[in-house]
Amino acid sequence: MKVGWGDERTDFVSSYLARHDLDEWEARFSPYDEELYCAVLDRVTSADIVIEIGAGDLRLALRLAQHVQRVYAVEVNPLLVARALEEIGLSLPRNLAVICANALDFPIPAGVTVGVLLMRHCRHFGHYFDRLQAVGCRWLLTNARWKYGLEAIDLKAPRTPFAELTEGWYACRCGAVGYVGMGSCPDLGPVEVEDCPACRPEGAGDWTAA
Ligand SMILES: C[S@@+](CC[C@H](N)C(=O)[O-])C[C@H]1O[C@@H](n2cnc3c(N)ncnc32)[C@H](O)[C@@H]1O
Repeated sequence: MKVGWGDERTDFVSSYLARHDLDEWEARFSPYDEELYCAVLDRVTSADIVIEIGAGDLRLALRLAQHVQRVYAVEVNPLLVARALEEIGLSLPRNLAVICANALDFPIPAGVTVGVLLMRHCRHFGHYFDRLQAVGCRWLLTNARWKYGLEAIDLKAPRTPFAELTEGWYACRCGAVGYVGMGSCPDLGPVEVEDCPACRPEGAGDWTAA
């Protein structure tokens, strides 16, 4: 399975990236390790309906389909999807719907209970967060905010206005993370916030990345 586009024409690739509002890193397929996949599988149940955003070569989607009610695997790269489907052939499970589309505008199906976003270079975290929340999805399993490990975000949990936070780590619905204050609470877990400086266009970049 080829993972990049070294073998394809550069002009095609750049128009593909521009058409889909992706930068090169965000659009690259790069599989994660077994530990991360097991952490995802540990968090789902047989009742869940899962959407995997950026499903790559479907390796995780196939495993998820063995554990949950239904999986929607959305992958923007048609070359990757075509190669994966060719390899899987007629063994494609009935409860796995493979969708070759841009997840930024693909409608999230009603009933989805878990979103999986394994994409450390994701530039659209807030967009996915808001759209999953809007359809009533409960969990977002992701490595996109902190860039390591797996974070299980409860999309239904209340969020603290950023302005009320005086000291400590925070993680925002827009995808920004950082620390507020003088550093006296370094060991406390992050507070889930909204309306952080990075949420506002004029404040973009005005936050301390962890
Ligand atoms: C880092 S790879 C991870 C693949 C898979 N989740 C895994 O862990 O094996 C990220 C994948 O997301 C896809 N992707 C990025 N942006 C996307 C979008 N807007 N819609 C659908 N797929 C996207 C890329 O093409 C790439 O295959």
